Amino acid sequence: MADMPTPARSLLRFITCGSVDDGKSTLLGRLLFDAGMLPDDQIEALRRDSARLHPDGTVLDFSLLTDGLDAEREQGITIDVAYRYFHSARRSFVVADCPGHEQYTRNMATGASHADLAVVLVDARKGLLPQTRRHTYICALMGIRKVVLAVNKMDLVEYSQNVYETIRDAYAELARALGIASVHALPVAARHGDNVGQHSAQMPWYQGPSLLELLETVQVDPLQAVDFRMPVQWVSRPDQSFRGYAGTIRGGHVKVGDEVVVQPGTHRARIARIVTADGDLPQAQAGQAVTLTLDREVDASRGDVIADAARPAPEADQFAAHLLWMGDEPLLPNRGYWLKIGSKTVNARVTSIKHKVDVNTQAKLAAHRLELNEVGYTNLDLDHPVAFESFATNPALGGFILVDRQTHATVACGMLDFALHRASNVHWQQLDIDKRLRARSKGQRPRCLWFTGLSGAGKSTIANLLERRLSALGCHTYLLDGDNLRHGLNRDLGFTPEARVENVRRVAEVSHLMVDAGLIVLVCVISPFRSEREFARSLFDEYEFVEVFVDTPLEECERRDPKGLYRKVRAGEISNFTGIDSPYEAPQAAEMHLHTPDLTLEAMVERLVACVLQEEQG
Ligand code: ADX
Repeated sequence: MADMPTPARSLLRFITCGSVDDGKSTLLGRLLFDAGMLPDDQIEALRRDSARLHPDGTVLDFSLLTDGLDAEREQGITIDVAYRYFHSARRSFVVADCPGHEQYTRNMATGASHADLAVVLVDARKGLLPQTRRHTYICALMGIRKVVLAVNKMDLVEYSQNVYETIRDAYAELARALGIASVHALPVAARHGDNVGQHSAQMPWYQGPSLLELLETVQVDPLQAVDFRMPVQWVSRPDQSFRGYAGTIRGGHVKVGDEVVVQPGTHRARIARIVTADGDLPQAQAGQAVTLTLDREVDASRGDVIADAARPAPEADQFAAHLLWMGDEPLLPNRGYWLKIGSKTVNARVTSIKHKVDVNTQAKLAAHRLELNEVGYTNLDLDHPVAFESFATNPALGGFILVDRQTHATVACGMLDFALHRASNVHWQQLDIDKRLRARSKGQRPRCLWFTGLSGAGKSTIANLLERRLSALGCHTYLLDGDNLRHGLNRDLGFTPEARVENVRRVAEVSHLMVDAGLIVLVCVISPFRSEREFARSLFDEYEFVEVFVDTPLEECERRDPKGLYRKVRAGEISNFTGIDSPYEAPQAAEMHLHTPDLTLEAMVERLVACVLQEEQG
């Protein structure tokens, strides 16, 4: 890195955090003004607006300037991440101005994830607030290791050195606890400009740099990670003679001739060329976008990581990780999500929430789920191993997002902490007798018929008769019934959404084993969530899984009430009841849709038998 030229004017990306009326906008506006970044006509407009709004004679109200979004002005709060670009004589800046309210924690996390440094504002009259702790926690979580603490509104505490130092010391303690390596504190009065662009005559006891000087001179750490890592974004293959791996280097440096390894895996090769739009390079380093060619054919594809062969990245499929939940729906442990890390996408489940964190106090609390804007420490299980680094070592290989498989919305950002090696010494044992042989000896094609529908819809009644028919035809079957399984395998589970996710996951795994044993398995569980039914489907080969939607309107289920449960629900004795105060997500494309009010039991069973037999031939 040392031999690379430094750009004439370096770039600092920072984020400002503060509570609603700590004076964040005023500080930013003042900073732009003092950096000489405001054109004359804007200053003139500002003078006019200020005079109109403040008949008391405030000369320039800088908050008017940076409250760019209309809604902000109307509500008097900042509501989105607003990026602003400016430069002084010595440096260029990108500032993410983030909202202070708790409901915008995810916006703040977005801003922080791109920042080198955070300016944390504290109102001198109020000292550290829960928000100060929350903002600092999120900054630390997102990898920010440098903070400027601006103790603002010093004019309103008579420029008291004592007040300032008390706040400074309390904050230093907080920062230390959160692993923030560097804090530079300074007293300011943004409204009057003290210590923003110029030194304050009011606070001669503060001898340090002004905010602008600080931002101009603060050293931004080069990427900590020193080992060479490049996630492959895409494989470039314009013709038979060229195969290159394109991506951005996310750690260390590389030169022609270096030995590398393609991860996950052990395939090694040497760098043949480092190709860029401006021609070949002898070497390249973190941050550069390049196309690498190798001296031999290796199997690397999008999502793989090309790494230093002498110091490869660890690989794992189970992790401890921090999660900041950004989904409107809560995180449910054991539900499947897509996990995107580097340029790779895998399936992942949160297998447990070790604790959630009260971000205002840093207290660790027990939790079964995470709601919007909540932070938790979790265990993750991936369906494929990935090459990674801890987030603290290399955010580019330790940061990830979770994506909802149904809606494709980003529901969490996460930070890998370390790998769990619980299953790494457990191998898949190949057996001589397999599903095909077992099925052949039974003379049938194994499959899973998955009956879903409300309680009392008729799932078990239909499946029971179907099993009798299939059995009479000589089929080998088994019926897995939700109620029955809840007496044994699932007796530890109740009816909260997270318990149902786990209930259905276990039933799916069991039915998968039974299909592997060569059986025709009939599964009757409400399975109210699409996501878990899709998980069940994903375990099976094509045509093995038949989703049967037993579609009986709620009123009809309640009228029948075979177990007397609806009556109890209405009497207030049962809560979380599907269809009443717990959701049922109807299938959208079930293989078989049985609208029970229109069909006789026999007709439905006939259709199912035909389905099983027909597939049998197909
Ligand atoms: S699932 O939602 O997790 O798939 P499952 O099919 O195993 O549910 O169990 C549902 C059965 O449990 C119902 O048929 C009913 O007899 C009984 N039950 C008891 N409490 C509830 C409840 N709150 N919601 C739904 N079913 C309940």
